[in-house]
Amino acid sequence: MSLSSCDPPHHPSLPAAIAAGEAVAARAGRGLSSVATSAAEHAAGLSTEQVEALRYSIWEDIASEYDARFLGAWLDGLDIEFSASFRSAAEVWERDELGHHACSKAVWVAAFGGERDLDQRLAERKPNFAPLTPFFTDEFTILCLLAYDELATVRAYRANLPLYAHLGGPFRRLMRRIMADEARHYASFLSVAQSEYPGRAADAPGVISRLRAAGVPYAATFVLDHDDPVFTSELLDETARTLRARFVE
Ligand SMILES: [Fe+2]
Ligand SMILES: [Fe+2]
Repeated sequence: MSLSSCDPPHHPSLPAAIAAGEAVAARAGRGLSSVATSAAEHAAGLSTEQVEALRYSIWEDIASEYDARFLGAWLDGLDIEFSASFRSAAEVWERDELGHHACSKAVWVAAFGGERDLDQRLAERKPNFAPLTPFFTDEFTILCLLAYDELATVRAYRANLPLYAHLGGPFRRLMRRIMADEARHYASFLSVAQSEYPGRAADAPGVISRLRAAGVPYAATFVLDHDDPVFTSELLDETARTLRARFVE
């Protein structure tokens, strides 16, 4: 799952992160620096409450998108022979998530400053996958986990769009683009699950129910990062219902 020929897998360099962020911004029709400049202009006119709400949610985005590298490394360390379609979907996924991380971080730094503090908080992150091991048993179960997580993220980003809009139209459009990427990740993991494991559709509802019930405190694992209150019970119920229906339709 290497990000470029010069970067070791899961340890992307700063230039690789910037390039991935620019690729996401370009898909939204902007340069990342122009989105950041616009966000800084809008931030100057916000109330303390608006700034607090934005800092909370964008930090959650920066951190969980950053954690994709830990999940990539964890997947590589599993004793599972992944299919070629899984590896291809995961490679695109990891590069996109790095880009999302770089976009959210660039906007945060432009709007609120404190890059050194942010980098320090990120460098201190340590994942703990132990409570999630029942979901890393085989490729099909992992695909259910990833599809569930990506679909929940699409919905959370959508629910946060009015908040993101406080930082200007360009940032809101960038977040809509990121939402579209998450929807593409969801579709690709679901598609691999269905095409590689046609005989396991009947197992999906049980896996999805266990995912919905997991309630594991988030520990830098990328998946199941549902600490932001935007992940309401209704949002997660609806996510589980939608995904279940895709396997039984
Ligand atoms: Fe993402
Ligand atoms: Fe994603």
